[in-house]
Amino acid sequence: MKYNLIIADDDADFGHKAKTAFYDALNGINRPKVILPTGNTPAPFYKDLRESGDCPSFTYIALDEYTGLMEDDKRLFKKWLAQEILDPLEIKVRWTFNSAANPACEIEKMRALFFKNGHADVAILGIGENGHVGFNEPGSPFNESVRHVRLTEETRKANMAYWGEQYGVMPTHALTLGIADLIESKKTILLARGAAKAEILQRALHGEITTDVPASYLQRQENVTIVADRAAAQLLPH
Ligand code: PGA
Repeated sequence: MKYNLIIADDDADFGHKAKTAFYDALNGINRPKVILPTGNTPAPFYKDLRESGDCPSFTYIALDEYTGLMEDDKRLFKKWLAQEILDPLEIKVRWTFNSAANPACEIEKMRALFFKNGHADVAILGIGENGHVGFNEPGSPFNESVRHVRLTEETRKANMAYWGEQYGVMPTHALTLGIADLIESKKTILLARGAAKAEILQRALHGEITTDVPASYLQRQENVTIVADRAAAQLLPH
């Protein structure tokens, strides 16, 4: 598989290099549409973007969202991203999921947006320790578009750590863009930080292409850039 590997020395370097990769990807695209992830991994990237003050405007496309929460719930990914990056950058056009609405309607809404406007120009993604991208857990078919999924216990626990126990029971279901939507993205930037991601990153990029490792779909993609710190990249050939 051909991909562009960018290795960062520390968090600040990671943020800076991810931002540079993002700007490179946006270059020359008129009104770009961009998928952005939540999670701990992109934090230095968002910090760098916030502080640089020169980010071109783009349309934000939600990668995933819990369902069944009230629209003012602090756990919503759209709230997280609003605070972290979208409000500071004054990104106004946001394709998001309404957590409290009927999931089937939300699926139709997002599919209609893709149908009318085209898919993402740039997908920025994280990778879960089990190889998930968005909420496409192991076993997710590569040919499915936006869908409503049940979360694995593993993922619910990992996500609980973002807010602590005080927010009570984590949602059991979520909406996610499917791998088929991610495949349609013209460019992909995968972000990975920390030794816990080293093995799955190696498997995803150099192992078997299988739905057991959802991120392995990337091996068939063009225009893939990996931005990883040394710990996450330690098993990759470079
Ligand atoms: P993390 O999450 O960035 O918090 O490790 C990534 C993911 O689970 O997709």
